[in-house]
Amino acid sequence: MAVKKINAPKRSEQMSTDKNNSTRINQPIGIFDSGVGGLTVASAIAKALPNEQIIYFGDTAHLPYGDKSADSIKYYSIRIAQFLLEQNCKIIVIACNTASALAYETVKDFVGNKVTVIDVVNPIVNEIVQNKKLKHIGVIATKGTIKSDIYAKKIKHLSKNVEVASLATPLLASMIEEGFFNNKISRTVIHDYLSRPKLKKIDSLILACTHYPLIKKEIEEFYKGKVKIYDNAEAVAKTVAEVLTKEKLLATKKNNKHKFYISDYTKSFEETSKNFFKSKIKPTQAAIWK
Ligand code: DGL
Repeated sequence: MAVKKINAPKRSEQMSTDKNNSTRINQPIGIFDSGVGGLTVASAIAKALPNEQIIYFGDTAHLPYGDKSADSIKYYSIRIAQFLLEQNCKIIVIACNTASALAYETVKDFVGNKVTVIDVVNPIVNEIVQNKKLKHIGVIATKGTIKSDIYAKKIKHLSKNVEVASLATPLLASMIEEGFFNNKISRTVIHDYLSRPKLKKIDSLILACTHYPLIKKEIEEFYKGKVKIYDNAEAVAKTVAEVLTKEKLLATKKNNKHKFYISDYTKSFEETSKNFFKSKIKPTQAAIWK
């Protein structure tokens, strides 16, 4: 399918530099990820905040993020944040664990006081530490997220007596991006990862990659109710709602004309996206890397 190409707009003259500017309430929520994964977060936000318009950016030109260096992830994230600011987004959600782990502070520094930036790690960590029954928390994620050790550091900082077992599961995001889930291949790969000795003692598991909610059912089947499974989507949507409420930026007019941009056209994005987001998605290619 031919996709419409656009050039990234120049930094908008009218872009607000004041977070509390009341003319911004009906401006969109900006969300980004390396590909389709962040749509799990976008979908939860659309459900929690049905009035809001979403602008989504999937950096399919650089997918997967999980294997890239921290410098590359920072570079990509800043450019995408700039693009979302140019679209007059009133808040930016980094709907990617890898980018949240490696580039959250950099993106916050870059946008300054223009908008609030939400990551996907803090909301789920803050939720999970409330459950005092959990003693052995497992984390599965990309190599980049696991190498950063961000989940273990944050959880242990808030809950001293909790063990965290982190395992990189690099095949999963690419497998899901290619549409392999709920089938024999995905079950075999999932079974192999979850059987590793590292995860033997866990009582809960964080799906610390925004692609993984698509295989949540298969993971639940593996554990047969013995392990509590968490993902980022709803906790992030709740945080976005809280921040917009606090900043008096909740939309007053309903606008469901969400816009989806990708940096490179991939057929799998269009095909897989319908599993992540409830309605059919027609992405526009945004040539922001030219
Ligand atoms: N969805 C992304 C995350 O949450 C990563 C997938 C990738 O490797 O690009 O980490």
